[in-house]
Amino acid sequence: MAAFGTLFMPEMAISWFDGSAWSEPKLVASDSIQLHPGAHVLHYSSTCFEGLKAFRHEDGSIKVFRMDASMARFAQSSRLLALPEIDPAMSSRMITETVARFASEVPAPPGSMYIRPTHFGTEPAIGKAAAPSSTSCQYILLSPVGDYFAGGDSCLRLLVEDQGMRCAPHNGMIKSGGNYASALRPILAARAEYQADQVLFCPGGDVQETGAANFLLIDGDEIITKALDESFLHGITRDSILTLARDLGMRVSERPLSVDELLERAAKPGCEAALSGTAAVLAPVGTLIYRGKEYAVGSGKVGETTVRLRQALNDIQWGKAEDRFGWLTSIDL
Ligand SMILES: Cc1ncc(COP(=O)(O)O)c(C=O)c1O
Repeated sequence: MAAFGTLFMPEMAISWFDGSAWSEPKLVASDSIQLHPGAHVLHYSSTCFEGLKAFRHEDGSIKVFRMDASMARFAQSSRLLALPEIDPAMSSRMITETVARFASEVPAPPGSMYIRPTHFGTEPAIGKAAAPSSTSCQYILLSPVGDYFAGGDSCLRLLVEDQGMRCAPHNGMIKSGGNYASALRPILAARAEYQADQVLFCPGGDVQETGAANFLLIDGDEIITKALDESFLHGITRDSILTLARDLGMRVSERPLSVDELLERAAKPGCEAALSGTAAVLAPVGTLIYRGKEYAVGSGKVGETTVRLRQALNDIQWGKAEDRFGWLTSIDL
């Protein structure tokens, strides 16, 4: 199987904003787009995107998971970046039409069709460093993906970073390309120096998130994770897992978590930690590396609550459990 996100469906839905209105969305070849070299996005990073998945159920139906939440975040990211307003209903239609077009290519579980809506400023204007793009483009790109855990459910090693930060604090809740570019240097350094898989950003000692996933500490029947603010991404998987945890009778504490408390709790036998995100759903964290020292989380192995919560979410996504929270959108085939 190709690496995650490197295989694309040959067509995508696209629409252009000309300064006053969005063009009627249409399906076009997905191998190229034409942009002026002075396009706003190429100079001033006026871009945001989304990541969500469509799943194939045993009865042959295709369902998109939490499309409404994702489109609300897409609209919010666009607004916070001063990009032209998007209409979530129109973007949703672009998703359902593109997924319907390639319904036969949606892999069966544990695979899925990863959906990448993207929106960026197109105005040819290199003098607009401090002004928004008046024109933009949005498209819906599809990429079939396989089993994230095909290589086994190995535990992640996280470098706990309390000096730097992932991105500018007022930008954290925007799903924008610049934030990922800004996190790259610390991530590459953590890989080279500590063989860490990810960096857990904890600015000023406040446990926040990694470069592409939210962080959850699972201590007995309590889940502890940072309360929503504008400094980090409001993960839809995070919200889904917390909803399922509450439903299973667990205690959910959305509050500040310091690095000191994290290391203290992680040392307890039975403690678990996990990263939540669309790609991996819930990936176990086995080791924290802080100031050159390694700390095992609980046993250092995959925890049973992590597996149970991931299964509960997968069961809904895969149509093996009732969609009690109204998270699935059916694709008309
Ligand atoms: C920085 C960051 N945090 C958290 C997440 C998890 O968000 P979601 O669960 O909506 O995929 C992502 C997802 O890609 C991310 O890029």
